[in-house]
Amino acid sequence: MSEVQAVAELESHAIEEMVAGLFASRKTISSKYLYDETGSQLFEEICDLPEYHVTRTEIALLQSCARDMATRLPSDSTLVEFGSGASIKTRLLLAAAPQVSAYVPIDISPSALDGAARELCRIFPKLSVEPVVADFTQAVVLPSALDASPHVGFFPGSTIGNFDPAEAGRFLTRARALLGTGARLILGADITREPAVLEPAYDDAAGVTAAFNLNLLTRLNREAEADFDLSSFHHRAIWNEEESRVEMHLVSIRSQVVEVAGRVVSFARGETIHTENSYKYSRPRLEAIASAAGWRVSAGWEGHDPAPLREGAGRASFCILMLDAQ
Ligand code: TRP
Repeated sequence: MSEVQAVAELESHAIEEMVAGLFASRKTISSKYLYDETGSQLFEEICDLPEYHVTRTEIALLQSCARDMATRLPSDSTLVEFGSGASIKTRLLLAAAPQVSAYVPIDISPSALDGAARELCRIFPKLSVEPVVADFTQAVVLPSALDASPHVGFFPGSTIGNFDPAEAGRFLTRARALLGTGARLILGADITREPAVLEPAYDDAAGVTAAFNLNLLTRLNREAEADFDLSSFHHRAIWNEEESRVEMHLVSIRSQVVEVAGRVVSFARGETIHTENSYKYSRPRLEAIASAAGWRVSAGWEGHDPAPLREGAGRASFCILMLDAQ
């Protein structure tokens, strides 16, 4: 399949799935659809927000453990990243691990992938970069020319938390099959469970996260012939202690009807579209999910937020696990 075909297929599947979610009894849209071109750019802005502890905490940890991590990677290996976005964290790992000879960034956003691949080629001229446009929650095909090289998966950003426990297990099982014999997987997860840190992280004062969430409605207006009025919805982020997750919703501020793809969707006042979960797994929980999916934990690193927004609100922490295929 050509890249143009792959992108067209992703697009039509996206529209179908987003529309189906709006007609479900509990309205929901998968968070992967937040990442169109504008969404991917807004997400990069979120990563730099003072309220969003996740990216800087992971980067600080990677800076301190990248060398140790690199000694555990085989020579001539292929790094496969799930949801690579701008590939900022990857650069830290690649700089410490010159034995990685190929890099396969996988992302659902062709524009993000393009820019990142070009930048990586410029910084690491000897690295062979083979981008794959795909939804990594579905079947992915890796470049067969790299079959003989040992594969190392890279899944940073706490994206694992965007899966519920069952989905996380299924993803890790599929990743093991995809990466093949002798594979490793580097898994990064936010292990912060302080509501006072988490709620602002997903609802910042400048409104970037709100714009990111609301951009889904702009996307539906453009791609699914919808007529959402953006001023009639607002962004909400809440910490659900029982489920150990931050939930993101778009709340209808009045009772209203919206046309979507030639059909009518009605919203009661206060009704929401659930657009994302960000589970905060503890390290033991993550290790248990990984073990059940056929991975052995061979190393782990933990670090704290280097620049907490407020003193006394509890400190954010991040954990990176090195997993070996069993
Ligand atoms: N994987 C990121 C996380 O769960 C994605 C993310 C950050 C996100 N902020 C968001 C998704 C706001 C939706 C809305 O932290």
